[in-house]
Amino acid sequence: PCNMVLKPGLEGVPVTQSAICDINGLKGELKYRGYSIAELAAKSSFLETTYLLIWGDLPSSKQLREFEDAIQMHRRLSFRVRDMMKCFPATGHPMDALQSSAASLGLFYSRRAIDNPQYIYDAVVRLIAKIPTMVAAFQLIRKGQDPIQPRDDLPYSANFLYMLTEREPDPLAARVFDRCLILHAEHSLNASTFSARVTASTLTDPYAVVASAVGTLAGPLHGGANEDVIAMLEEIGAPENARNYLKQAIDQKSKIMGFGHREYKVKDPRATLLQGFAEDLFARFGKDEMYDVARSVEEEASPLLGPRGIYPNVDFYSGLVYRKLGIPRDLFTPIFAISRVAGWLAHWREQLSANRIFRPTQIYTGKKTRAWCALEERN
Ligand code: CMC
Repeated sequence: PCNMVLKPGLEGVPVTQSAICDINGLKGELKYRGYSIAELAAKSSFLETTYLLIWGDLPSSKQLREFEDAIQMHRRLSFRVRDMMKCFPATGHPMDALQSSAASLGLFYSRRAIDNPQYIYDAVVRLIAKIPTMVAAFQLIRKGQDPIQPRDDLPYSANFLYMLTEREPDPLAARVFDRCLILHAEHSLNASTFSARVTASTLTDPYAVVASAVGTLAGPLHGGANEDVIAMLEEIGAPENARNYLKQAIDQKSKIMGFGHREYKVKDPRATLLQGFAEDLFARFGKDEMYDVARSVEEEASPLLGPRGIYPNVDFYSGLVYRKLGIPRDLFTPIFAISRVAGWLAHWREQLSANRIFRPTQIYTGKKTRAWCALEERN
């Protein structure tokens, strides 16, 4: 009907009800299942937060131990998946490798039981367990090495850093990394989570749900921004160049990476926490010279973009944290995926609990009926 109003990007349009995550974009507050993100980052672990997100309540110690044990048991990849990854081009982006590898899990596990709680539990365990192994495996494979096996004596985050770097991480590095995973685990209906819910609504398997979300997260307007922030800071080069860079970018109407958010009109609370994590790492392992550039960008941007509600988002400081942990730039977004899989799976479960297939409508702007023109008569 002609009275339909288009909302580009579905801004402000509710498309589902959800009890998972609550954002107050004016106050800069974020809660998972009613718990503030700052408290979770201080007191919880990524796996405990994952359990909370997916099943709605904090686990008992027995539930948490069983969940952690199950994840530890399923960290390994089938040799078939490893061999498949060895055929990927070494120059390919790790997000593409991850999307393909995650989707390949659907080849191994049946999709016909998505209404069975045990199937859901097992799928959650497999995905949370195997995604980090896939990211680490591709990193070693593209360097021409065999992936190394997970270590059962290491907790989730320490084990990931070990598989990636082949060294047991410093405890501070492992804890900071785990806290980063907590901060990135869920954020309501961002593009990748919406994509996960759309895919889930067709009742396909959870591996396809996660693979579609990984593909969506990869773009520079979404998870890919953390990689671009470091490139931007390097291009700016020194704190005193920040002002000119910003003015020029704003004049040319180009986006400042790591700034702006559909939901927040103040500084993203995760950016504040991540900035603190970066400082913790710098105090222990030495400062990154790009940190001064980042702070200068934030300071200079405040009078220019602040009045329009554009402030640093989660991606602005996360790259500096990962860089200090020795993680290559093109793995920043796969690490975002390692974490966000928790949120995607929480939404998968919630979608299945009250499913209706997503099938929005459109306002057609194309030609009306046209007369066919034979090939020889076309110019
Ligand atoms: N730098 C400069 N101007 C900006 C920025 C920015 N980063 N973000 C928004 N604006 C301006 C934009 O140019 C537009 O101006 P005008 O009204 O004059 O055309 C206005 O603000 C509204 O922007 P929009 O792109 O329509 O806003 P949106 O809600 O559709 O987009 C966003 C949100 C995150 C895609 C956008 O802020 C952006 O592209 N930021 C840079 C990329 C980035 O950091 N992405 C990470 C997002 S947070 C984590 C995640 O999702 O992964």
